[in-house]
Amino acid sequence: MFTRIAYISEATCAMDDQALKDLAEQSSQKNRKIEITGYLYFCRNRFFQYIEGPREASLQLMDVIRADARHTVKEELMIHGQPKRLFPGWNLRWLRQMELHALHLEHTISDFMGGKLAFRDIAYWEQRIWEMISQLAENQQQIPVKTGPIGSSNIRRILDSEL
Ligand SMILES: Cc1cc2nc3c(=O)[nH]c(=O)nc-3n(C[C@H](O)[C@H](O)[C@H](O)COP(=O)(O)O)c2cc1C
Repeated sequence: MFTRIAYISEATCAMDDQALKDLAEQSSQKNRKIEITGYLYFCRNRFFQYIEGPREASLQLMDVIRADARHTVKEELMIHGQPKRLFPGWNLRWLRQMELHALHLEHTISDFMGGKLAFRDIAYWEQRIWEMISQLAENQQQIPVKTGPIGSSNIRRILDSEL
């Protein structure tokens, strides 16, 4: 049985692509050891993270994450006793905005992160957030496995070839 945790937090320091990439890589290595899977999304200074795994490991990890000075956790949801993992292949996948465009999910996530739905109707908000997570789980194959850094060099190459 697995525990699922989703939260939204506000960054307390600047997070650029390199900082996010490093955070996801380091976290991924650690999560693999404790059998945690999930993803991290960052937009307009807010994080959305989803993690899943054995109950104790998930709770302990969430304690560590909550205490991290790089952010302040604002909203947190948790369910226990789930029969399966939703993202068995992602120890901590850093999801970028452009990767969610194809799935039309970027607005759904930003709605939660912008706090549009938060506090207004917590039960509705909670239901929508789990729905969004399952929707992403169903469509995860459409997101390429390997994402290198969004190459400014690639963009430059296209521009150069147009000159
Ligand atoms: C938004 C955010 C998400 C994080 N997610 C994870 C995670 O999934 N797994 C993990 O081990 N650490 C994660 N961390 C890092 C931990 O909070 C903590 O810094 C790290 O585990 C400490 O590692 P250390 O004891 O090796 O220094 C996250 C930090 C932030 C700010």
